[in-house]
Amino acid sequence: MSGSDRRDIFSTHAPTPIQKLSFPLLEEKKVSLYVKRDDLIHPLVSGNKWRKLKYNVYHALEYDIGRLLTFGGAYSNHIHAFAAVCSLYSLDGVVVIRGEPYEKLNPTLQYVKDCGVHIQYISREQYRKRDSVQFLDALKKKWGDFFLIPEGGSNTLAVTGVKELVSEVETQLNGKPDVIVSAVGSGGTLAGIVEGLNKGQTAVGISVLKGAEDLENRVRRLAPGAIQKSWLINHDYCFGGYARFSDELIVFMKNFSADTAIPLEPIYTAKMFFGLLDMISNDRFDPGSIIVALHSGGLQAMQGLEERYPQTFLGYTSWT
Ligand SMILES: Cc1ncc(COP(=O)(O)O)c(C=O)c1O
Repeated sequence: MSGSDRRDIFSTHAPTPIQKLSFPLLEEKKVSLYVKRDDLIHPLVSGNKWRKLKYNVYHALEYDIGRLLTFGGAYSNHIHAFAAVCSLYSLDGVVVIRGEPYEKLNPTLQYVKDCGVHIQYISREQYRKRDSVQFLDALKKKWGDFFLIPEGGSNTLAVTGVKELVSEVETQLNGKPDVIVSAVGSGGTLAGIVEGLNKGQTAVGISVLKGAEDLENRVRRLAPGAIQKSWLINHDYCFGGYARFSDELIVFMKNFSADTAIPLEPIYTAKMFFGLLDMISNDRFDPGSIIVALHSGGLQAMQGLEERYPQTFLGYTSWT
C-alpha cells in the first residue's frame, strides 16, 4: 500500500507529540521527564497497538492473507485495535475471547462486532492451552487457514514496529534520552524499545502482572539484541495483578491527570507512572537523567471500567 493511499493509517499519524512534565519532585531530583504521547496516535488504533500492528498489517497485505486471528480478554486494548485495523483495511478477522459469552456485549466487544470481526469464546481452561497443536488444529478446522497474531499482538513484526519509536524520540529530543519507560504486559512493547536502544540508554519496564516470572524471558525471546542492552523489569507496581487496582492508585491517577491534563487508565499507564515517580523519589535515576515515559494508550478500556465501577470512575472519563 502506498503512502499516498488515504486508508493507510500507518504511513501517517507518527511522530506523536512529546510533552515535558514539570513537577517539584523532578526539580528536586534533577531529572527531566517527557511523555511520548502515543495515546494520541490514532483514535481507534491507539498507543502501542498502532506500533505493534503496523508490520502485521503490512505483512497480511503483502502476502494477501485472507484471514487474521488473534486472542485476548473481553476488554482488551489489543482486541479493540485489531478489530479497527480489520475494518479499516477490509481484512477478515477473528478474535478468540477468554471466557464465556456475555448476555450483553461490553463496549469493546460491541465495537468488535460493529467492525464485522468474528467472535469465538473459549473457556479459561481452553485459553491456557491456546498454543497447543491440538487447539490450533481445532481453530483451523473451524476457521480455515489464518495468520495468527498472538495475545497482546506481541510477535517479531510488532517488535519491528515498536523499535521505530526509539529513533522517533531521539529525533524529537535532538539527542538521546537516557531512559525509556513502558508498562509491560505481554512483553512486545518493551522488547521493541530494547531493540531500539543505543549505547548508554536503558529501558525500564513496569510489570502490570503478578508473579510474571517469565516476563524477562519473553522479552529476550522477542528481542534477540536484548543480551547486549541495558534493561530491567520492575515487578513492584502491579497492584495485586492484571486489572487489579487500589484506592491509592485511583487517587494517584486522578491527581496526575488533573496536574498534567494527561488521561490515564488504571490497567497499564497509571501503574507505570505511579511506579516511575516512586522510582524517581527513591533516587533510582542519576541526577541529570533524561527520562521518556511511553503513554501506550489503552483509554478505550475506560468505558468498560466506568460501566463496571461507576462510583470509582464517575467524572474521570468525561474528558478522556
Ligand atoms: C495500553 C497498554 N499499555 C501497555 C501494554 C503492554 O504492552 P505489552 O503487552 O507489549 O507488554 C498494553 C498491552 O498490550 C496496553 O494495552
